[in-house]
Amino acid sequence: MPIIVLANQKGGVGKTTSCATLGAALAEKGRRVLLVDFDPQASLTTSLGFDPDQIDPSIYAALSATLRDEPSPRLPDTILETQIGCDLIPSNISLSAAEPDLLTALSGETILRELLDQLPEPYDYVLIDCLPSLGMLTIAALAAADFVLIPLQAEFLPMRGLGLLLKTVHKVQAKLNPSLAVAGLFFTMVEPRTLHAQEVVESVRQVLGDHIRIFGAAVGRTVRLREAGVAGVTIIQYAPNHPVAEAYRQLATELEQVAAPELQEA
Ligand SMILES: Nc1ncnc2c1ncn2[C@@H]1O[C@H](COP(=O)(O)OP(=O)(O)O)[C@@H](O)[C@H]1O
Ligand SMILES: [Mg+2]
Repeated sequence: MPIIVLANQKGGVGKTTSCATLGAALAEKGRRVLLVDFDPQASLTTSLGFDPDQIDPSIYAALSATLRDEPSPRLPDTILETQIGCDLIPSNISLSAAEPDLLTALSGETILRELLDQLPEPYDYVLIDCLPSLGMLTIAALAAADFVLIPLQAEFLPMRGLGLLLKTVHKVQAKLNPSLAVAGLFFTMVEPRTLHAQEVVESVRQVLGDHIRIFGAAVGRTVRLREAGVAGVTIIQYAPNHPVAEAYRQLATELEQVAAPELQEA
């Protein structure tokens, strides 16, 4: 069961949108997918049509019970079914209280790994949506993951933040989770007709192409993604023939070759 975390400490680069849409694309291929909202802002939860204030029990409740060795709630108690063919572990603002809890806990960094071990049934994929920071929650997500998948906006100087993110990944690999691998990066919000976006994509390929996998799928910029989120679904349901829906299907296929090649042959 590959656990894949979408990470980039910059906000607004398409982490949450990609988490949901990639999940929907994998589910469409018949995969069993669990999405984990690990951001207290709960955009993933909201974009799938749930009101974070009505969530009970929350992931935070399961997290603090586990930290305190209390029997319940357990992580499976929080799972919701969505309209996009994936299950969801929702989040809400209470999760922001976890950061200080984790800092003082003995092994706070590995709490998400511990929680995911409570899952009863195996999923084909777990996709974790992170908040835009490299704080404790993101560290805990990286410590729980097999792969990190990086959405990158094709804009001016995307590489600055990328260096810091990769440094954090290397630290987590060295100290907490040697089996963490960088699956690769992909571009979002690409405007195909602007020369600038093409230049950014080209320069990232030149500088990093030998070190990191850069997925061929590139996600264009479209308001359809936002509209789909307002409708509580993804573009896979909302506009199934849109080129961006197609791009996420391609990304799902490419990611699967990296993360679970045995599923593709099945
Ligand atoms: N490819 C895209 N084209 C246009 N808008 C997008 C695209 N991807 C995401 N968005 C929009 O940009 C905003 C930020 O995206 P989001 O996925 O929430 O980013 P993050 O999780 O990295 O903060 C959202 O309003 C979303 O609907
Ligand atoms: Mg987000």
